[in-house]
Amino acid sequence: MSNTNGRTAIVTGAARGIGAAVARRLVEDGFSVALLDLDEAACQPVVDAIGSAGGRALAVGVDISDEAGVEAAVTQVVTELGDPAVLVNNAGITRDNLLFKMSADDWESVMKVHLRGAFLMSRAVQRYMTEQRWGRIVNLSSTSALGNRGQANYAAAKAGIQGFTKTLAIELGKFGVTANAIAPGFIETEMTAATAARIGVSFEEFKAHAAAQIPVGRTGNPEDIAHTVSFLVSEGAGFVSGQVIYVAGGPRA
Ligand code: NAI
Repeated sequence: MSNTNGRTAIVTGAARGIGAAVARRLVEDGFSVALLDLDEAACQPVVDAIGSAGGRALAVGVDISDEAGVEAAVTQVVTELGDPAVLVNNAGITRDNLLFKMSADDWESVMKVHLRGAFLMSRAVQRYMTEQRWGRIVNLSSTSALGNRGQANYAAAKAGIQGFTKTLAIELGKFGVTANAIAPGFIETEMTAATAARIGVSFEEFKAHAAAQIPVGRTGNPEDIAHTVSFLVSEGAGFVSGQVIYVAGGPRA
């Protein structure tokens, strides 16, 4: 299964949801994995579970939108696990509201985590990838990049991620580094549970309503995304770069 030569991977927003599933999967694939999230303690249960199963993982507390914090976090990963060869920019937040009710703060905080965060992380790790002449960057976009009511900020950020990804692919390709984006549809996590709570329906109702509109007839789970990440970071995916893969149970959610 493993063709990773014990390489080091970094997953942001890995304390829970999609990021935690990606971290677990990359360990299964043979990577040593650094789990970055706002709070180191929040990552610890995932790191402990990985350790008990014989994998190598490290929890690092960092706000990925903080420039100095990102540099320090990446240095810690290099010291404790090794030079990063894989980066999964997964950390994200929502601050949904209709345009007329959206505050400038809602706009900026979403841009800060998704765009500034992915930029700072990618810039900090690219030097290790280009030195090794091998790297894989996977950025989390969303079907919302195509437009979604109540998400002007998030849709703009997730569309921005796609342009960012394609540019990284162009700039870094000659160093053996690929960059791709995954655009998930409805995935069952605390993020979608919070959306259900905000609009006042139960999570079960919310999922059933979403599933009825998804061609494969179900909502997604974090492992669906982890599986796609596993492919994109594999040795064999070296000729796939600058792509956006919609993982949404159909052409779009
Ligand atoms: P989640 O809300 O369950 O987890 C996000 C994690 O990111 C949390 O652990 C949070 O603490 C962390 N985080 C937030 N801001 C951070 C910061 N500044 N620095 C470090 N860590 C930070 O979210 P979920 O659902 O697992 O989503 C993961 C990614 O997938 C996000 O980028 C999200 O936008 C994207 N996505 C999710 C979909 C879904 O249906 N759940 C659909 C499409 C995209």
